[in-house]
Amino acid sequence: MSTINYTLLNRQLEALLDTRDWLTNSAQTCAFIQQELSELNWVGFYLQREAQVLCLGPFQGKPACHPIPFSKGVCGAAAREQATQRVDDVHAVADHIACDANSNSELVVPIVTDGFVWGVLDIDSPQHARFSQEDQAGIEALVATFMRQTDLPRFL
Ligand code: SME
Repeated sequence: MSTINYTLLNRQLEALLDTRDWLTNSAQTCAFIQQELSELNWVGFYLQREAQVLCLGPFQGKPACHPIPFSKGVCGAAAREQATQRVDDVHAVADHIACDANSNSELVVPIVTDGFVWGVLDIDSPQHARFSQEDQAGIEALVATFMRQTDLPRFL
């Protein structure tokens, strides 16, 4: 369904991230994704600044839920399992945390460095099943670029 050119997007993101600063780069990354991908209503970072808790970081969209423990929601599952969560229908997830009633599908990519969950990138869509496997692979590649080009400080 998606015809987006993730190889090109990745090159553009590489060029955009011209500092090594995590705050600048995370703000730029979520703004870039919001700008370039269609049908998104929220894109943002949650950071592990407290043990086993995701704290709201730079984002695009409505004010959001904070804090999110590792034990809760789709973001918590991504952090706990250190694995991308691709959810076609968030309403079918029992402990989904509804920040915005407009969200229907979601992709959450964990950001793990040396075994430590630095944070997650959470992307929400009002469209059901917005994210294909191709989108997942493309967005994981964007997150890999963010990680490669950014110094990720240990907050704990
Ligand atoms: N939907 C997420 C919560 C974060 S907001 O969508 C921004 C979850 O269940 O983890």
